[in-house]
Amino acid sequence: MKGQGRMPAAVRLVEVGPRDGLQAEKTPVPTAVKVALIERLGDTGLTTIEATSFVSPRAVPQMADHADVMRLLRRRADVAYPVLVPNLKGWEQARQAGVSEIAVFISASEAFSRANLNCTIAASLERVAAVAAAALAQGVRVRGYISCVLGCPFEGHVAPSVVARLARALADLGCYEISLGDTIGTGTPGATRDMVELVAGEVGIGRLAGHFHDTYGQALANIHAALQAGMTVFDASVAGLGGCPYAPGATGNVATEDVVYMLHGMGIATGVDLDKLRAVGDDISRHLGRPSQSRVARALAARRAA
Ligand code: HMG
Ligand code: MG
Repeated sequence: MKGQGRMPAAVRLVEVGPRDGLQAEKTPVPTAVKVALIERLGDTGLTTIEATSFVSPRAVPQMADHADVMRLLRRRADVAYPVLVPNLKGWEQARQAGVSEIAVFISASEAFSRANLNCTIAASLERVAAVAAAALAQGVRVRGYISCVLGCPFEGHVAPSVVARLARALADLGCYEISLGDTIGTGTPGATRDMVELVAGEVGIGRLAGHFHDTYGQALANIHAALQAGMTVFDASVAGLGGCPYAPGATGNVATEDVVYMLHGMGIATGVDLDKLRAVGDDISRHLGRPSQSRVARALAARRAA
């Protein structure tokens, strides 16, 4: 890891709780609860909220109400609501739902690609190319995800050069931003910074976002390392909800409250009201019947109770 980089004045956060956070929940979360969650998140100052996914309802039953979520959602003009789309079938349904942004996803490991998408990395790039072309032709923005950028649950080590090649491919397909996912949370700060710098050398740091999971307690440290490498966009999930159904052992995404607290403490603006965000996180955690995974939310709750 090299020396301390300059910290940015502001960071954009991409809230993924309603999709990445809820997708693995076994008990169906009522559509009205999801819609209220997304709307309240929009009132906190977040400007990008991933709302749902148009994946197979057999594969991910929790997201089966995607069309209803998008129909009932009162969309704010100052918030983007990307939805995850795996293939042309999902794109057609997302298009009918009137989305203005989609997210496509591939993996940096062959084994995870088979588990998550039932195809090779090369085949997934072909699928994504078709989806991206169809969406861009309709004026719909396309965000890209690469999973397992710092480790795979089946293959272990993932070479940063593979991530860089795939990021190049997604950029060439027209993805305006590429989110680098440490899906199983095994990354550490040195590896994060080296990987981010290598990938940025391929597509530019301004096109990259970081998507860290806190499974090994490394997420905030990894975000800090990525900040030092010049990254200014991070995905996070309110109350630390989530885990990928196809990544054994993957726990929650880094909690948005924790990221906001750290960034504000560093003097980096996010535009997010932490009090409002904490209240939203506490309410969805209460609905799910378990404590918030946000350390900041828990500490603030303990302070209020004292
Ligand atoms: P496939 O096996 O190639 O599908 O891929 P297929 O075309 O052979 O179709 C199989 C069946 O699924 C058919 O139904 C299709 O109609 C149906 P049948 O004829 O057997 O009744 N189907 C669909 N139905 C509705 N909507 C669709 C759709 N596509 C196929 N869009 C596929 C199947 C991979 C698309 C499917 O298995 C799927 O949707 N899987 C879910 C993948 C997923 O949601 N994974 C989690 C999200 S990724 C993630 O969490 C990681 C990330 O957050 C980053 C990180 O955390 O690091 C992004
Ligand atoms: Mg995730």
